[in-house]
Amino acid sequence: MSTANSYIAELREVTKRFEEKTVLDHVSLKVRSQERLVILGQSGSGKSTILRLILGILMPDEGSVFFKQFEITRLPRRKLQRIRRHIGMVYQYSALLSSRPVRDNVALPLEELTDKSREEIDKIVDEKLELVGMKDSKNLMPSELSGGMKKRVSLARALVLEPELILFDEPVAGLDPVMASVIDELVINLSEKSKVTCVVVTHEMDSAFRIATRMAMLYHGKIIEEGTPEEMKKSRNPVVSQFLTGSTEGPILEETKDAITT
Ligand SMILES: Nc1ncnc2c1ncn2[C@@H]1O[C@H](COP(=O)(O)OP(=O)(O)O)[C@@H](O)[C@H]1O
Ligand SMILES: [Mg+2]
Repeated sequence: MSTANSYIAELREVTKRFEEKTVLDHVSLKVRSQERLVILGQSGSGKSTILRLILGILMPDEGSVFFKQFEITRLPRRKLQRIRRHIGMVYQYSALLSSRPVRDNVALPLEELTDKSREEIDKIVDEKLELVGMKDSKNLMPSELSGGMKKRVSLARALVLEPELILFDEPVAGLDPVMASVIDELVINLSEKSKVTCVVVTHEMDSAFRIATRMAMLYHGKIIEEGTPEEMKKSRNPVVSQFLTGSTEGPILEETKDAITT
């Protein structure tokens, strides 16, 4: 069962329930090194749950989760915390500390998890803020930032420990279309420049097709389709084609119609 793992992350037959609701039902998913895998799915389909499982902050009811050769579902707490440093997370609402300036927010993982000096930390913070185009905003407070700027800061913070894998939870949610494209471009550039693997969950199709080198669609607790963007576009699965085109005709809305009329 615990064969060595050549993928950067893997869910193997993972089931996750919250109370009586089965959110993930024997889901298997492999993340390949240096790809940008976009996980598609409706709101509430379990996308954030997948990211929290990969990060090891949530444990499955059944199945196992791997980060490289480590079966994180079996690791003792301290080992897990050490492994987690190799994974960066960009949260949906940026999750910045409102009482701290940008600099402190970005420095946080370095201060908490390393014994680097103030000078070393400042150097890394500057470098990462520069990468995301936010060097001049070091001393601003989060309340002074636009949504797009907060997202950049959050990305800089995810980068300070030089992760091998970055997880993005709805990176463009709530941003205007122009800012959304800017953030998408940034994700693509970073992944190509620093050779970091990205897993992005989203329900926004324009963004998904810009970013993805590969896609997987989650529906009713299962991965119902997986492939390159081109393969996804050609999918014969009516749920996938409806989701990709945003059509009101198809199986997705039929359920809601039934729910409304019954
Ligand atoms: N900690 C939790 N306790 C109870 N239910 C949860 C919890 N986390 C998620 N859920 C439920 O699991 C489902 C999937 O959630 P989530 O992964 O956040 O979906 P998505 O990110 O695709 O919108 C939702 O129905 C949500 O209400
Ligand atoms: Mg979510």
